[in-house]
Amino acid sequence: MGRSKMETRTTDYALGHSQPELERLVQQGQFFGELTEIMLLKAGLAPGMRVLDVGCGAGDVSFLAAKFVGPEGAVIGVDKAPEAVAFAQQRAQSAGLTNVQFIAADLADFQLEGEPVDAVIGRLVLMYFPDPAAVLRRLVTFVKPGGIVAFQELDLLPSPPPEIMSHPLCETYVAAGTRINQAFARAGIDGRIAFKLGPIFQQAGLPAPEMLAMQRVERGADSPIYEWIAQVTRTILPLLQQTGVATAEDVQVDTLAERMRREAVENDCTLMTPPLIAAWARKEYGGKQR
Ligand SMILES: C[S@@+](CC[C@H](N)C(=O)[O-])C[C@H]1O[C@@H](n2cnc3c(N)ncnc32)[C@H](O)[C@@H]1O
Repeated sequence: MGRSKMETRTTDYALGHSQPELERLVQQGQFFGELTEIMLLKAGLAPGMRVLDVGCGAGDVSFLAAKFVGPEGAVIGVDKAPEAVAFAQQRAQSAGLTNVQFIAADLADFQLEGEPVDAVIGRLVLMYFPDPAAVLRRLVTFVKPGGIVAFQELDLLPSPPPEIMSHPLCETYVAAGTRINQAFARAGIDGRIAFKLGPIFQQAGLPAPEMLAMQRVERGADSPIYEWIAQVTRTILPLLQQTGVATAEDVQVDTLAERMRREAVENDCTLMTPPLIAAWARKEYGGKQR
């Protein structure tokens, strides 16, 4: 039986799609790109495949998938934000990529045209759905039997132990990371979704997925981690304030990256990002889906 649209809707997307936010997504895409390539490789993306990238944002996961499927394959990126889709299209054009196209649509009512795809993939998108299993169940209907389903989400503990974030302690980094996780939690975003990907896949009618957690481990003055945290903080500054997590004065976003960098370098800290957890499975033949 079909699910109601309510179950497949997203909460209001808290990060917005201003041009600086789209540029931030590109930099975040570079920061986590290798970790997503590992997932796509292990999931079995291969030349000639037709792939659907859901919640594609500025298109970075679609561009990675396009490298795997090659000129004989095709990637369709879908995002509900027309400004993200226009930006992704423009990037594809500038890069001369002919095997990627982008469509503006809400995943709650998106309809795939043509044949089912060989794979549906997504990064940092299921976290925005109150019922991720319902949306995944819907997306799986667009996949061929035997096709691939692969998703990656960050584990954002509301109060991460400082010891798992840095050693020696980098207080500015720990405070900034914790603020982000708390604002997401208070905004009703499930920061623990990465740990639930197994049950979510199975509730969507898929077999138990293979899973892998990956983290960036960073140190030194040239690491991009300081900019990454500062840019996320800048994007969610209104959310930090609305949720009562911090004020603009607490955060001092204009100097945040430099303060983290200085403290980390002075104390020779090694910093870890939250784990980016990947889950992938193949849709069963004649199985439970649909
Ligand atoms: C954090 S961004 C991730 C973008 C991209 N996957 C990446 O990793 O670079 C999440 C994206 O999901 C999109 N999104 C959220 N809810 C959606 C929905 N209901 N339908 C389509 N896209 C949605 C947002 O517009 C946003 O661009």
